[in-house]
Amino acid sequence: MTNKPLTEPQKKQSDSIVDTVLSGQHGKHSFQTVYTYIHTRIQRGDWQAHAKLPSVRQLAEDTGMHRLTIFKAYQHLKDDGHVYARDKSGYYVQPPTLQVLTNEAELGLPLFQGNLGDLHRIQVKYQFSQALITPNLLPNHYFAEYVKQVFDLYPKLLGTYAPAQGDLELREMLQHYFTDTSQFHVHADEILITTGAQQAISLIAEVWIRPGDHVLIESPAYASALDVFQQKGARLVPMTINANGYDLAQIEQAMKQYKPRFFYLNPTFHNPTGICISAEQRKQLVDLAAQYHCLLIEDDTCQDIYFGQKPPLPLFAYDTEGYTIYIRSFSKYVSPGLRIACIVARPEWFTSLLAAKSLADGGTPLLNQKVFLHYFTSTRLQQHIEKLRIALRIRFEMMDEELSSTGWYYEPPQGGFNLWVRLPDHLSVPELLARCLKQSISFVPGSLFDHHESSKQYIRLCFSFASEQEIRTGIQQLVAIAKDMESNSSE
Ligand SMILES: Cc1ncc(COP(=O)(O)O)c(C=O)c1O
Repeated sequence: MTNKPLTEPQKKQSDSIVDTVLSGQHGKHSFQTVYTYIHTRIQRGDWQAHAKLPSVRQLAEDTGMHRLTIFKAYQHLKDDGHVYARDKSGYYVQPPTLQVLTNEAELGLPLFQGNLGDLHRIQVKYQFSQALITPNLLPNHYFAEYVKQVFDLYPKLLGTYAPAQGDLELREMLQHYFTDTSQFHVHADEILITTGAQQAISLIAEVWIRPGDHVLIESPAYASALDVFQQKGARLVPMTINANGYDLAQIEQAMKQYKPRFFYLNPTFHNPTGICISAEQRKQLVDLAAQYHCLLIEDDTCQDIYFGQKPPLPLFAYDTEGYTIYIRSFSKYVSPGLRIACIVARPEWFTSLLAAKSLADGGTPLLNQKVFLHYFTSTRLQQHIEKLRIALRIRFEMMDEELSSTGWYYEPPQGGFNLWVRLPDHLSVPELLARCLKQSISFVPGSLFDHHESSKQYIRLCFSFASEQEIRTGIQQLVAIAKDMESNSSE
């Protein structure tokens, strides 16, 4: 079905699906009636990007049509890129992410114009854009056992709210875990359970950022955190991160000059570059933070995803003055479906964070916390993480092998999910992305992680989602597209 412009009669069409059906424009029970009705209202702007659309059941009830007819209409709308589906939630309006830019008309291809979320929503065969572990590498079958175990142990679980700060049993377990693995000296009272690191970032932004405040960020940085800070009105001050780590003189100057609310950083297998900051720099950084009374927001999502040596201890372990707030996510490699993360912070910062969490959702669902607790403390998890490290390292090595003929620059990461690749200056990243998307290959252009020119020639290739075979074939195709672009430009 093609995306035709609206005709006058369509514009005048009633807002009511019942009227549309009764008018019998497309044959009384045709799925096309429903297709046109929804499509028209989206085009007219009645339902904006990401708005939830009426459910299949609701439309079936309103029209008297069979649910399968409605479902078929939604499937066609999805195939044509007008809506997208969320698991068990329904259908939503797809934002217009692909537009043909007239000034690049000679390319004859749509250039990607959206943000990271928009890019992730594009369905492709060779998925190198989403920094996710494929569910095929997670022990899905065993999760059910832990769910059952938890219901046996806590029969009233579903009848109980979780405390806003998080389940005490889980916080006590994490207290011991952090002491054993990361040399933290913390109490369970200094741990707040959150729904993913993303919520932790939002709570911190809510508590500390007022419009016009300065916030130090890495350049490049985790894009979704930047979006949150900007939405709160922060003025972002980029700090260089490269293979040598941070430029501490630059950070000191910025702390002095801007008196920032905080420095948000991701020092362990940094997203997107994969860089891991040395222990020496970590110590110097916490000293600087204490000297300039600048909070450090340490975001740690890949602590256990190392390929060789363990990374240095988190900044929090070196910080004796209490200027570090530590975010630790277990979503990626334990269970994205449970979405468990936590904030570790000294008491002086804790009260406002807890208040923000109470306002946000009153507590992360107890079921998720208990299932996480029992799975996390099992020997199976340890075995799983060990296997996962090997599987991810193999995937990285395959990607590395396939890229070896290109001469493109990248630092081999010692952990994490991504390769941060610098393309030669004569290769246009937007054009490469447009051509790759056309061939069902995705990656993230560096510009989405940075407003600085310096990241414009970079791309982030994630090796944790595609299968080994997809990595081989997809990267071969990506390299072939780049070579084709190069030979065309030299003709
Ligand atoms: C650096 C960083 N922080 C936070 C997150 C979000 O983590 P979560 O899934 O726990 O919300 C991600 C996910 O990609 C990330 O890479």
